[in-house]
Amino acid sequence: MLLVEMWPVLGIRVRTRAMELFVPDLDALAVLAGLAAEGIYDPQNQYLPRTPVGGWEDVPPPEAQRRFLRYYWAAFADWRPERWNLMFAANAGGEIVGIQEIGAQHFSVTRTVSTGSWLGRRYQGTGYGKAMREAILHLAFDAFHAERADTAAWATNHASLGVSRALGYQPNGTATRAAEGRRVEQVNLTLRRSDWRGSQDDCTFAGVTPEACEMLGLPPA
Ligand SMILES: CC(C)(COP(=O)(O)OP(=O)(O)OC[C@H]1O[C@@H](n2cnc3c(N)ncnc32)[C@H](O)[C@@H]1OP(=O)(O)O)[C@@H](O)C(=O)NCCC(=O)NCCS
Repeated sequence: MLLVEMWPVLGIRVRTRAMELFVPDLDALAVLAGLAAEGIYDPQNQYLPRTPVGGWEDVPPPEAQRRFLRYYWAAFADWRPERWNLMFAANAGGEIVGIQEIGAQHFSVTRTVSTGSWLGRRYQGTGYGKAMREAILHLAFDAFHAERADTAAWATNHASLGVSRALGYQPNGTATRAAEGRRVEQVNLTLRRSDWRGSQDDCTFAGVTPEACEMLGLPPA
């Protein structure tokens, strides 16, 4: 039996004109760990507290790479059809540029996904963030038949908020959080299926098989 037959979501791929999302193999993971370790936040930007997801900022190699890998593999170790998070490598023009995540809880009931993403510093600010979010929204709405996609960003994260704004998300309240010992405002955003303007012409999928759908807790087609 092949690994992808044992763990079918490994075979999911999304391709748009600008971006390909795929589940990274070990070589791609090494590239991503390198990008993560180089830092994904601008150290000069004091208004952007780092999201403590993987805790790999501010530690030297190879611990930074290891923390990224631990975060990545933990998502698979924790996988349940009723609660999962799938991390795709984003490939733009033949280069691996960052990570695009999609996750859900009790998807067959909620029909809601949440997304998160980051790009290597050198790839930021050139449209890739929008391209990868657009690709994952195609997967969510066109392949998984989601009704809603949620995301969140610090109120000072203008790039992330810019991606959401450009794709038609609506504000969905705020929350006050602690980050790096500071109080920060988080902006919650939602894109409902009725507000999703994406067109299918531009996007193809692979690997969304009945077996993968079962792992994702998607209702049978
Ligand atoms: C957030 C991130 C993924 C966005 O990707 P990006 O490639 O930098 O953003 P894009 O170039 O695709 O820009 C998307 C939109 O936001 C706008 N935007 C980008 N950076 C901006 C900034 N600093 N200020 C204001 N608007 C900005 C762009 O103009 C564009 O809008 P438009 O299509 O209407 O012109 C990327 O910057 C990143 O990885 N940041 C560090 C990690 C992070 O913050 N992750 C998100 C945590 S919530």
